[in-house]
Amino acid sequence: MIYTVKTSTSHVNNAPTERFLHLQSNDNSLILLLDPIPAIIFWGRKIDREHAIPAALFDVPVGQARLDQHVVLALCPEHGRGDFGSPGIEGHRQGRDWAPVFNLTAVEHTDTAATMTLSDPRAGLELTIYLALDPESNVMTLRHRVVNIGNSDYTVDRLALTLPLSENLNELITYHGRWSHEFQMQRIPLTHGGFIQENRRGRTSHESFPGIIALQPETDDVHGNVIGMHLGWSGNHRLRAQVKSDGRRYLQAEPLLSSGEVILPPNGAFETPTMYALFSNQGLNGMKQGFHHYVRNQVINFPDAKPRPVHFNTWEGIYFYHEPQRIMAMADAVARLGVERFILDDGWFLNRDGETRALGDWIVDPKKYPQGLSPLVDHVNQLGMEFGLWVEPEMVSKDSDVFRAHPDWMLGLDDLGYHQPSGRYQYVMDLQNPDAYNYLLAALDSLLTEYNITYLKWDMNRELVQAAHNGLPAYHGQTLALYTMIDTLRARHPLVEIESCASGGGRVDYEVLKRTHRFWTSDCNDALERQSIQHGMLMFFPPEVMGSHIGPYRSHTTRRVHDMSLRGLTALFGHMGAELDPVGLPDVELVAFARYIDLHKHYRELLHSGKCFNIPSGDSGQRIYGVMNDDVVLLAVVQIAMPQYALAGRLRLPVLDGDKRYRIDVLDSPAAFSSTMKQQPSWMAKPLSIHGDQLIQIGLSLPIMDPESAMLLSFTLE
Ligand code: DGJ
Repeated sequence: MIYTVKTSTSHVNNAPTERFLHLQSNDNSLILLLDPIPAIIFWGRKIDREHAIPAALFDVPVGQARLDQHVVLALCPEHGRGDFGSPGIEGHRQGRDWAPVFNLTAVEHTDTAATMTLSDPRAGLELTIYLALDPESNVMTLRHRVVNIGNSDYTVDRLALTLPLSENLNELITYHGRWSHEFQMQRIPLTHGGFIQENRRGRTSHESFPGIIALQPETDDVHGNVIGMHLGWSGNHRLRAQVKSDGRRYLQAEPLLSSGEVILPPNGAFETPTMYALFSNQGLNGMKQGFHHYVRNQVINFPDAKPRPVHFNTWEGIYFYHEPQRIMAMADAVARLGVERFILDDGWFLNRDGETRALGDWIVDPKKYPQGLSPLVDHVNQLGMEFGLWVEPEMVSKDSDVFRAHPDWMLGLDDLGYHQPSGRYQYVMDLQNPDAYNYLLAALDSLLTEYNITYLKWDMNRELVQAAHNGLPAYHGQTLALYTMIDTLRARHPLVEIESCASGGGRVDYEVLKRTHRFWTSDCNDALERQSIQHGMLMFFPPEVMGSHIGPYRSHTTRRVHDMSLRGLTALFGHMGAELDPVGLPDVELVAFARYIDLHKHYRELLHSGKCFNIPSGDSGQRIYGVMNDDVVLLAVVQIAMPQYALAGRLRLPVLDGDKRYRIDVLDSPAAFSSTMKQQPSWMAKPLSIHGDQLIQIGLSLPIMDPESAMLLSFTLE
C-alpha cells in the first residue's frame, strides 16, 4: 500500500522504508516511487489521500525478449540499471566510472516537496534530486546536483532532468523562429521516435526557446490534458521528447555542455538549471495561467509595486543619429502622449556612429553629448519621465579602445591561431576573466552612480562561437558569470530595472527573469507578426514582462503598413511602449497614440494581473484572446488573414461565469468596417446586457472584418 504522508513539516528519513511519496499542490497529485531509484509514477489531477492507493496499481508486466526485470523510467535514468533511453548522467574519470548506478540514501520531504540523495560509492558520485510542487500554481520544479566524492577529477558530460509523460500525451508543441520571428509554435505528433532540440548559440536564441508542450490530440485552449515544460537557463541547452519502443515517453532538459567544460575536482559539485513543468487538465489556458501565476509570485522581482511604466525607445526613431536637442524634442512629444519612461538606445557612447565599432568603451561620447548625459536626463525627468539607457556589456568591437588595450579580454581561441567569425561585426568579452569582469562592472556602476538612470536595456547581439576561457570551453561559465554580474549590479542599485534583450527575444527564460524585469520580445514591431510572436511567448510569460511597442505606420522590419488600431491593440496586451520618431507626426497619429496609451493605462492593472486566455476560432485566420479578472473580461478579436467564410461565425465565451450577467461594450473597432458590411450586428451599436450562460452557449454573431484588423470588447459583470 502507498503510505499516506501525514505531516506537512519537514521530515528526514535516513533509511527510507516508504517506497512511495504522494505530494500534492492545490489541484494536482504527484506520486513518486523512491526505491530503487526516484521516479514519477503519477502526475495529474488531485487524488484523495484518504484512500490508500494499492501499490499493485503500479505493477508492470515484464515482456518477452526484454530485460528480465522492469526498469522504471527514473528522474535520472541510468544506463547501468538497464534504461536504454537517454541517460540522466553521463561522465567519466579518465574513462572509468562511466555507468553509475545509484542507491537512495536519504529522503527529506514535506507535503509538496522532496529532496532525495543517492550515492554510488564505486563511481565516487553523489546525486541529489530536488523536486517541489508550488502549492498555488501547481508548477513543479526539478533540479539535480552531482558531487564528486571520489579522489580524482570527474568529467561531467551530461546531467539531465527527466520527466515522464502519460501515454495519452502523444502530440507536442515545439518552438522555432529566427530574428524578428521569435516564438513560432508547431504542433507535431509524438508517437514513435522523438524530437530533439539542441541550442549551441550561447543564449536561449530566437531559434530554440527552451520550452516544449506535450498534449493530447483533442487538447485545445480550453479543454484537455497538457504538460508544459521550460528550462530556466540562458545558455546552451538540449531538450528531448522521446517515445520508447514500449510506449513509455518522457521529456528531458539539460544544459548542453561542451567537451571538457565541466571537470569536477574531489568534492566539486555541478548543478543543473531548474526545470519548470506544469500539468493542467484545462487545456493550454490552464497551463498558461498556472505558469503566469508562478512567474508573478516566484520569479519576478520588481523593485516596487508601481504599475509598469509606458515606454518610449529611441532606436527606430533615430538609430545611431544622436543629437541632444532633437532627442529632447522627442521627449517633449512623447511626454504629451502619456509616456512614463524614456529609453536612450544604442549610439550614445564614445565613437558609436554605427554598428561596426566602439562596443566596450562605455563612456558618453563628448562629440554628441558635450555636457554628458545630464542635460538630457534632467530634461526627461523634468517632463515627469524616468530615464533608461541601452548597454551591451558582454560585447566588444575590435575597433574600440578597450580591445586595443586588452585583446586578451576577448572570449575565443584566437591565441591558438583560430579565426573567429564576428557577428554584427562584434566579439564577446570573457566574463570569467576577472579583469574584464571588473572593468565592465565598474563601467556600469559608474554610469548608474553618475546619472539618474532607473532602467537598463541590456542587449546581447551576437552568438557565442569558439567561446573559450584559458583555452577551455566557457559557454556555461559565461552564462553563470553574466548572472553574477547582474546580481552584483542590482545589489548595488536595487531600484534599477533591467530589460533582457538579445536582438529582440534571443535571451528569454525564467533564470534571467529572476534578475531582470522585462523582455524585448522581438525587434519586429509589425503588429501582424507580433500576433504570433506574442501568442507563443504568452504560453510561459505573463504580459507585464513582454515588451510590446507601437511602431510607425510602415514597419521597419517587414515594410508592411498597418493602421493605428491594429498597432495599438496589439501593443495593448503586453508591457506597452512606443518606438518611432514622434517629431513631426501628423496630429491625427499623435492623438491615436495618446488614445491607445490611455486605454492601456486604464486597463493596465487587469492586463498585468489578470488571467490570460485564448478562445478557439473556427477560422484559422482569426485570433480571439483576452485577459479577465472577477469583474471584467477584456477581449480582442483579431482578423489576421482573409476570413475563410463570408460570415464571421459566433463568439462563444466558455471562460465566463454562466450564472452571472454581463454588459458588453465595444471599446475599439476598425475604422473601415463600412467596406466589409452593409449592416453591423445590432449589439455593436449600443451596450448590451446578457446572461453569461447565453454567451457561453449561444454566443454573439461577429462582425465581418478585413484581414489585418482588430476589435476590442469588454464584458463587465453587472
Ligand atoms: C538590438 C535590439 O533588439 C534593438 O532593439 C536595438 O536596441 C539594437 N540592438 C541596438 O543596437
